[in-house]
Amino acid sequence: MNKKFASRREFLGAGLGAAVLSGAAVSAALASSPQRATAPVGEGPFYPINGQTERDYDMTRVEGAAGRAKGDIILVQGRVLDDTGKPVSGALVDVWQANAAGRYDHEKDPSTAPIDPNFQSWAQVRADSEGAYSFLTIKPGAYPAEEKWVRPPHIHFKVSKRGYHEITTQMFFEGEPLNDIDNLYLAVAIADRAGITAKATRGTAKDGEAALLFGFDVVLKKA
Ligand SMILES: [Fe+2]
Repeated sequence: MNKKFASRREFLGAGLGAAVLSGAAVSAALASSPQRATAPVGEGPFYPINGQTERDYDMTRVEGAAGRAKGDIILVQGRVLDDTGKPVSGALVDVWQANAAGRYDHEKDPSTAPIDPNFQSWAQVRADSEGAYSFLTIKPGAYPAEEKWVRPPHIHFKVSKRGYHEITTQMFFEGEPLNDIDNLYLAVAIADRAGITAKATRGTAKDGEAALLFGFDVVLKKA
């Protein structure tokens, strides 16, 4: 078997068939299966510029503000991997998004929807030694981009690490009807859409607060 191009299923089969393989060896084999690089999606006009200093893991609270961000609290978690499936430890995961009303905290946003003073709107977190990252946020609202074009809920991602090509993309939510008529989503090759579409898992977040977890792995190409 050509290890480099073996599928995850083949590795599982090999692992189950060969009793001599330890759990650790199977994990190592799974961890090095080839990955399809995450497709880029445009940065858009609302990258944060407001000089916020608060960019921590919890976007649902703002230091000094009394309340909690409006909207459905979600936990987004995933791994940053390279295209051989190895974790990219220490990668910077830079995310920004609209609030629950579909408004960005950005002077160029023409929306008349209110800014939510309890919503952080921007976070920068680092992938750990296993490439894992997470952040707590709220599900963003849809917003009109142009006449006859409403952007579906999405979270902007910029992921970088020295030695890899930086990727700018957007995380979409599985099952949103607006995905299927979104110009940016439709511009991504069909085979790449699953890689930018997060699936929900109902469960208990690690801090016990998010009703929905969304898994979103990012695959970087080596520079
Ligand atoms: Fe956007």
